[in-house]
Amino acid sequence: MLQVRDLRVCYGRVPAVHQVSLTLAAGEILAVVGANGAGKSTLLRAIAGLARADAGTIELDGRPIQALPAHARVPLGLALVPEGRHLFPRLTVERNLELGAFTRRDASEVASSLEMVLETFPVLRERRAQLAGTLSGGEQQMLAIARGLMSKPRLLLLDEPSWGVAPIVVSRIFETIQAINRSGVAVLLVEQNVKRALSVAHRATVIQTGRVVAEGTGADLLGSDLVRRAYLGL
Ligand SMILES: Nc1ncnc2c1ncn2[C@@H]1O[C@H](COP(=O)(O)OP(=O)(O)OP(=O)(O)O)[C@@H](O)[C@H]1O
Ligand SMILES: [Mg+2]
Repeated sequence: MLQVRDLRVCYGRVPAVHQVSLTLAAGEILAVVGANGAGKSTLLRAIAGLARADAGTIELDGRPIQALPAHARVPLGLALVPEGRHLFPRLTVERNLELGAFTRRDASEVASSLEMVLETFPVLRERRAQLAGTLSGGEQQMLAIARGLMSKPRLLLLDEPSWGVAPIVVSRIFETIQAINRSGVAVLLVEQNVKRALSVAHRATVIQTGRVVAEGTGADLLGSDLVRRAYLGL
């Protein structure tokens, strides 16, 4: 479904992603892990169209998308849940969700997506009329994921979904990610919580200073002493 080849992304003249290639099949969860500043968020932003690819290609279903603006990638099935969530804190939960569907025109389909995400996250139904900025960290993360789902993605790009979430809620977030995946949505998961990410992912890629340094199944990477010590800090 997604093929990234030799991607390079710079801020000014400084590359944050030097040369990254990866593939993700339909229905798969691929984890991307690596230290702070490794280029994980930049990689997701480039796939979503929020950072420009300076070299390399990004293909979705075999079609190059690197020249398309972010808003044109959403109807193709890509949704980014950004690091730090970027909710609209002074808008209600429901309004934040509606904004996730801004590229969709069919009101009855949007209403059925809204119903689906409120089933997935019952707490958001309870808090529907509440301002997003007044939610707890875990609830805000659920809202950010739910807003991403409102565009009806086939590939969800999740950047640090466990960030700022109380430890007891982290498990719920990961279970929900797996449930979303079982419903047929592919997931590219960037996480600091390496153990959890590798345990839910079908495959994983380790990046260091903008380059791929290891790849394999989650179990392979967790089982490799070298990878654990050198790259994962485990
Ligand atoms: N807007 C920006 N302008 C200039 N440099 C940036 C910008 N955003 C990120 N960088 C730099 O690019 C590199 C990669 O950053 P990025 O945010 O992609 O890493 P990350 O792996 O997501 O890190 P973290 O785990 O801290 O979220 C870092 O050296 C960072 O300082
Ligand atoms: Mg990041």
